[in-house]
Formats: sequence, structure tokens, C-alpha cells
Amino acid sequence: MKIIKVKDYEELSKHAASYLIEKVRKTPNMVLGLATGGTSEGTYQNMINDYKENQTSYKGITTFNLDEYIGLDGDNENSYRFFMDTHLFNYLDIDKSKTHVPRGDGKDTLKECDTYELLIKEHGGIDLQLLGIGGNGHIGFNEPGSSFQSRTRIIELADSTRQANARFFERLEDVPALAITMGIATIMESKEIVLLASGEGKREAIKRLLHGEVSEDFPASILNKHSHVTIIADEAALTGLN
Ligand code: F6R
Repeated sequence: MKIIKVKDYEELSKHAASYLIEKVRKTPNMVLGLATGGTSEGTYQNMINDYKENQTSYKGITTFNLDEYIGLDGDNENSYRFFMDTHLFNYLDIDKSKTHVPRGDGKDTLKECDTYELLIKEHGGIDLQLLGIGGNGHIGFNEPGSSFQSRTRIIELADSTRQANARFFERLEDVPALAITMGIATIMESKEIVLLASGEGKREAIKRLLHGEVSEDFPASILNKHSHVTIIADEAALTGLN
């Protein structure tokens, strides 16, 4: 696992964006796995800035997002489809029909999970998956206890995850209890993984990822078994770690 230490969130966002932009330029038809959440916002803003300045093209790029809340449609401002449209896709020349976010608003959510998994396979898998990390070690919405063999499926969100994400909603009660998430096995099949971590709040999680045992109690620990992982983290997330 390669660790890139940067000063702060601003640097992390610039660094992560440059990393992704370079890959996109090199492989203009690549399949990109994307994450939502506070950590990725700055990265996406820097990609938008680059698009304005340098016109890096995303026309040939296909994307798959990690997860989506169940019960929110794409127009709901807390849905991850809405997040991706308004934080990234609307500002690039990307073909929206090639951007995939699981649909959590449909009738047959179980079928949606299988269809999503199949679609990823049909595209030859994910070339590069961007990840954040939950304080409890979740990746995507694979909460502690998720099987390392898991595939795209419905998951019950941990209380700590709902509390952490309540900042985006009016009330804690509004945070959905269920989500669709790519599975751990799905994520692990990505050819390359880039995980972002910023701030003190992620310090314990990064410590456990780097120094703890590989266990389903701490989903991110499986990344130690992947051959091409880069962690981009800021000083606050890495304090006290070597
Ligand atoms: C979001 C996702 C989550 C987040 C994680 C960190 O699509 O898959 O695993 O990456 O919860 O969220 P932030 O960045 O808000 O701290």
C-alpha cells in the first residue's frame, strides 16, 4: 500500500484530482469508480476547475458510484445521484448515460443490485475506484461485519454512519436506514484503488487500516490484500503514524 501524505484538505483535494485527471488523460475510455461524501467534494471541485482551464475530456469515461440511499430518488438533494450531478457531472463533458449510480427509488431493489453488478462486469470491471473511509472502517456502505465475499446488495446502515451523515439532512430521522452498496468483493476486483482520508476524525480508522488485523469487523482492512492501493491522507489523519 502506498501512502501519500499531504498537508491538509486543500492539498489532498488538489493531489487526488491531479491523480485522477492524469489517469483520464492517459486512458480516455476508462471505467472510474466514484465515491460521494465530504472528503471527495474538494477533489471533484478541482476536476471541474481543470476542465474549465484545460478541457480534459470525460466523453469516453464510464463511471460507477459505490452506493445510494434506498428511498431517495435522483431529484432528492440528499441522494447520491443528485450529489454526483451537482458536484461533478453537470460541469464536465461526460455523457450522463455512462454515469451509473445504483437506483434506490425503484420497486425491485434486489434486482437493481444484480443488474448493477452485471453492468460493472459487462464494462470489464472498474479500472480505478475512489474510496473514502468511515470512522468505523466502512468502505462504500459495507459496514463492519460485511463479508469479504459480498457483492452489490442492500445494507442496513450503522447508527454511527447515520449520525455522521445526518449533517447533510435536516434531522437524523430523515437519514435513510437502508442503502445499496457495491460489495467488498466488487470493490476488491477494481484494478486500482485510491482511498482519501482527511482530518482527525479519520485518524483512528487509518491507524487500524495500516496497523490492525485484516478482519470483517473492520471492512477497510481488506485493502491490505489488494496489490494496487494508494492512500492519500493529510497530516491530521496521519498524526502519530508512520
Ligand atoms: C460514500 C461512501 C462512504 C464515504 C465515507 C466517508 O459514497 O461510500 O464510504 O466515503 O462514509 O464519508 P466522508 O467523506 O463524508 O467522511
